[in-house]
Amino acid sequence: MEKIIIHGGRRLKGEVAISGAKNAALPLLFATLLTGGRHCLDNVPALRDIHTAEQLLTTLGASVERHGSRFEVEASHLNHVEAPYDLVRTMRASVLVLGPLLARLGHARVSLPGGCAIGARPINLHLKGLEAMGARIELSHGYVEARARRLRGARIYFDLPTVGGTENLMMAASLARGTTVLENAACEPEIVDLAQALTRMGARIEGAGSDRIVIEGVDELHPLQYSVMPDRIEAGTFMVAAAMTRGDIRLRGARPGDMEALISKLREAGAEVTVLDDGLRVQGNRHIRPVNIKTLPHPGFPTDMQAQFMALMALAEGTSVITESVFENRFMHVCELQRLGADIAIEGSTATVKGSRGLVGAPVMATDLRASACLVLAGLAAENTTEVARIYHLDRGYERIEEKFRQLGASIERVKA
Ligand code: UD1
Repeated sequence: MEKIIIHGGRRLKGEVAISGAKNAALPLLFATLLTGGRHCLDNVPALRDIHTAEQLLTTLGASVERHGSRFEVEASHLNHVEAPYDLVRTMRASVLVLGPLLARLGHARVSLPGGCAIGARPINLHLKGLEAMGARIELSHGYVEARARRLRGARIYFDLPTVGGTENLMMAASLARGTTVLENAACEPEIVDLAQALTRMGARIEGAGSDRIVIEGVDELHPLQYSVMPDRIEAGTFMVAAAMTRGDIRLRGARPGDMEALISKLREAGAEVTVLDDGLRVQGNRHIRPVNIKTLPHPGFPTDMQAQFMALMALAEGTSVITESVFENRFMHVCELQRLGADIAIEGSTATVKGSRGLVGAPVMATDLRASACLVLAGLAAENTTEVARIYHLDRGYERIEEKFRQLGASIERVKA
């Protein structure tokens, strides 16, 4: 097992290139299951979750070739319809094969993901939507088995906006007979990216990015040629790093339009955020002001930035209140931040953070992907040495993170534990 060792307290300065978005690349890779031919996807980040997606595509009978950040997928002869437990367990987004397999082959068998570190995360809304489109769904032996001769368009109302559910149904509806209307759909930028890619494949989709998406099913799609959007959560993590270390970081390729809630909260906290032609610049301020946040579906403050923002608030000159409203159990980083000296009290879905002058390094343990990023940020700003264990969580979603931070002047290294 590997761990990350950080000697904190340095101001981070310089430029960092933002990688392709994990949460956009995963549905795009699974969209290749919708049709045969040679698909070509550029700007795919090198991450553990992407490797899991590659394994899943291969298990289903597709062949995948990587050339740096370019992926070529050939999915003409799929010979399996099952996403096995071992893969779904390591990456929940594997359930996104359900819509494409069902739409193309009329049959899919996907392991139920079960609970995960940040909550129960059911897929009932994915299944309800597919049933409305005519799929017969059975649950047995921990698997969802779905069958349909050909899916038909339907009007689907999501009880709450689900990113994965919207993506699964958008892919399924692209090959269904007739029109599908998704109401109370998720509006995340990754949904817009997927809709753009599907449209290039010949799908007819309107309204992606709003809460009402209309998909006119077509009989056939063409292979995908697309470049994945930049990762707004990776960008956001570096932005918070600039604010926490009183640094000055340029983020090449970051798209400000995807990150308005975060930009506005960072400005409230005293950081200077400037929009550049090819990205963003964030300059930290000596005085960090306390700011309240509440996580919400896009365009609200993203739950995937909550842990990192809490690390920043641990250094604020005053008390802030952080409310997590998307997932029910997403405060596991709190105990670890406390080990670095943060003063945080949790009550239900609310954390009250009393900012302090500084954090002091200690050994800590990562519990999930974004919690790990929060601990790395805290370590970069803390005095002395911080050791972050269980960094395999970090490798699921951040490409070469220690190398990128080192380029900005951090003292950070990965060692075998
Ligand atoms: C995606 C992101 C994840 C992010 C999350 C919220 C990917 C690969 N992952 O996850 O990084 O944190 O969006 O922005 O893109 N829910 C149900 N029933 C369902 C589906 C969801 O009750 O059928 C609930 C979930 O438990 C959660 C909320 O809806 O409370 C939002 O979940 P959802 O948007 O589906 O998240 P994911 O797509 O899993």
